[in-house]
Amino acid sequence: MDRFWLPRVGGSSLLSYGSAAVVSIAALLKLQEQATNYFGSETHCFKSVRTNWDDIPTANCFTVSPKGIITNVYAVDDSKIGSGSEALSKGYAIPGLWDGHGHLLQYGEFLHSVDLFGTTSLDEARARVREYADKNPQAGSKMEWITGVGWDQMAYGKMPMADDLSADEILNGKFIALSRVDVHCIWVSQAVLDLLPETIPDVPGGEIVRDPGMGVFCDNAMDIIMALWPKPSNEKKSTFIKSAMTSLNELGIVGMHDAGVTPDNLALYQSLASGNDWTVRVYAMVECFKRNTFCADEVERHVRADGRLSIQSVKLFGDGALGSWGSAMIDPYSDRPDTSGSLLVNATELTYLATAWSRRGFQVNIHAIGDLANRYAVDAMTVALRLLCPDLTQPLSLCQAKHRFRIEHSQIIHPADQDRIHAVGIIPSIQPTHATSDMAYAELRLGHERTAAEAYRMRSLLDLNPVLGSDFPVEPADPFQGLYAAITRKSPHTGQAPEGFPDGWYAEETLDLDQAVRGFTLGPAYGGFMEGRAGVIRPGAFADWVVIDRPLEAIESVEELRAFKVRETWVGGKRVFKRELRVAP
Ligand SMILES: *[C@@H]1O[C@H](CO)[C@@H](O)[C@H](O)[C@H]1NC(C)=O
Ligand SMILES: [Zn+2]
Repeated sequence: MDRFWLPRVGGSSLLSYGSAAVVSIAALLKLQEQATNYFGSETHCFKSVRTNWDDIPTANCFTVSPKGIITNVYAVDDSKIGSGSEALSKGYAIPGLWDGHGHLLQYGEFLHSVDLFGTTSLDEARARVREYADKNPQAGSKMEWITGVGWDQMAYGKMPMADDLSADEILNGKFIALSRVDVHCIWVSQAVLDLLPETIPDVPGGEIVRDPGMGVFCDNAMDIIMALWPKPSNEKKSTFIKSAMTSLNELGIVGMHDAGVTPDNLALYQSLASGNDWTVRVYAMVECFKRNTFCADEVERHVRADGRLSIQSVKLFGDGALGSWGSAMIDPYSDRPDTSGSLLVNATELTYLATAWSRRGFQVNIHAIGDLANRYAVDAMTVALRLLCPDLTQPLSLCQAKHRFRIEHSQIIHPADQDRIHAVGIIPSIQPTHATSDMAYAELRLGHERTAAEAYRMRSLLDLNPVLGSDFPVEPADPFQGLYAAITRKSPHTGQAPEGFPDGWYAEETLDLDQAVRGFTLGPAYGGFMEGRAGVIRPGAFADWVVIDRPLEAIESVEELRAFKVRETWVGGKRVFKRELRVAP
């Protein structure tokens, strides 16, 4: 046993370990006396506890009430515990980790789909789909398609087509839809094609691949397929959510900010949040069925006192992604001088939406990647704050502290707008692994000057309480990979940065370990109105923690973070994950 619950441990079980344990019982009972405020509390002791709490930054023990709230945190002098102290203190505790920007349902769906990442031939791709079909015999019907993600025609030497799926006896006739590695194209089977009219006209802003044969639809043309896609039932979605939460708990995650949930799915979340399977705290941002609209009448502002679910924020969308030249730039792209991307909403409308939503008590979180989208987001937020807090003698930052407007991604920001963000105190929501995934091509798109002055700031934004996250399933959900990316500005997959950056990509924007850990704990707590309750081990906080084998500060090489595994994860005082320790043969 590597952790210790004082009130639950009976004397006899310890006595059987010999007299050394007897000595410790007396000490333990004394501890229990100090620690247990009322019946039913449990005290947990460790070799050390990182609390994230300035009053007692490092402790050994904390007490948890039956309601899953921390009631006491204290340091114990080892010598007072006695010779049985080892039983108390194996393992190290840190506050439970939060992902400040992810997509819960999509992550669950991803876990239940065919994983095509890394496939290097059509044969290999077919084998993976077949394997999935074997394990999921119900999938592949018109009502439940086989879905997958991760193919890349560059690795196959040719663009795939529907016939490549029909060529397999087992797959022939099944409904299959497989997303490309960047989810900008979809490859479907003949059964899906048969649902379409005989001739399909071209789609503006999209591509229907017709050569060597039909089967692949890209960008706006994907909508043709999406319209036919059978929506998963609530039962299916509940399975997705359960799988997603189990997987996140395994990674040490106790809470997440869900960056865009439609009203129907919010209602489902509300119905599930009381259940035992709901093991991740969810701070959900409303996404209207029609993006960038005002749909406050379709959702209920809903903040549970137990912290399991909060619906008090909205997600708006300024622009698209950098990879596909979709993010809105002030000046044209360096590698595509003909375009500067496009805004998904105009400035007046964005200002109206920010104002209307915040008036209704919703925090406003705007997706902004390009420097033009970021400028418009700052403009909209500044105007909204002026309207919300018209007392001109008060600085806007005071008003912002109440409303906590956030910019999701905050990827490319003009220096003048960086200054404005600092002046108002707008919260940047940053995904360190986006920086390390994009670093291979970002400078091509942006040129050197813009990259050096504007792109993927982290340390420059540190005073703004940045919220760190991963954007799972777009990036792996593992927060230790995020910590690694933030600390090194190198890829957690390869341990490398692009040529010319031996110390990490624009290493002056790295965070140190402590700053990065705060970004995955205290940052999301503040950015989700949960300061003092989440991301911290102190009286009054939710009893959420992670047990690790070694304190993070004692890691010899930062490279270890790339494959770091947690030992246990606890949410609301209950253990939700325990790593099975393999015994060496
Ligand atoms: C901005 O968008 C709104 C909503 O789509 C539209 O009504 C308005 O005319 C647009 N304004 C301009 C200047 O295009
Ligand atoms: Zn996202």
